[in-house]
Amino acid sequence: MKLRYLGHSAFMLTCAENIRILIDPFISKNPLAHIDLSTLKADYILLTHAHGDHIGDTLSLADKQHTTIVCVSELASYFAKEGYKTHAMQIGGAFTFDFGRLKLYPATHGSMTPDGRYGGLAAGIVLEIGNICLYHAGDTGLFGDMKLIAELHKVDYFMVPIGGNFTMDIQDATIATSWIKPKYAIPMHYDTFPVIKTDPQVFRTAVQDFVDDTLILQLGAEISL
Ligand code: NI
Ligand code: MN
Repeated sequence: MKLRYLGHSAFMLTCAENIRILIDPFISKNPLAHIDLSTLKADYILLTHAHGDHIGDTLSLADKQHTTIVCVSELASYFAKEGYKTHAMQIGGAFTFDFGRLKLYPATHGSMTPDGRYGGLAAGIVLEIGNICLYHAGDTGLFGDMKLIAELHKVDYFMVPIGGNFTMDIQDATIATSWIKPKYAIPMHYDTFPVIKTDPQVFRTAVQDFVDDTLILQLGAEISL
């Protein structure tokens, strides 16, 4: 399985049988990203919430015949009305797809589409693919029930926002990481805009006792899981 960082909170997972999963594909409007959208084909697009920096390029990247958009039901109906294939879920619900099991967890955050429609609750996503567990926390502040997620899942890769202002900053992301105790922490949602500028090396130092390693991924970089 491969994981490619597309900047901000966007990732492309390529799993067995070449199933391609895009998460929060904010690409073309990312001031730091220079990735050609035509290179990003997806079987699934997973969305943590409706904000523009997470829905991103979903409308143009999703193939109406082929791509399934997975998100909370309020947001799914927004895409379904436009003729897209969706799989609606809700917080606390899990479903086993052909690639593995996906469960939605809470995130303490808002959610509204760029054109002002209610997006339902914001979510974090736990993926269990083969024997690998990934937790993409979405946009969230620190909340105590992350301890429950740690109790229920042995997280290998923790994609955690560290940029502050809209989400946890490094201090709170460090507490979250101390609870989740992943093998690898992957900081995200920083530097994209001036207001979320921060130094991931400070995060790396802060969490060194809680993880095997912190993976500070360069934009466009791909790693094997
Ligand atoms: Ni947001
Ligand atoms: Mn965001």
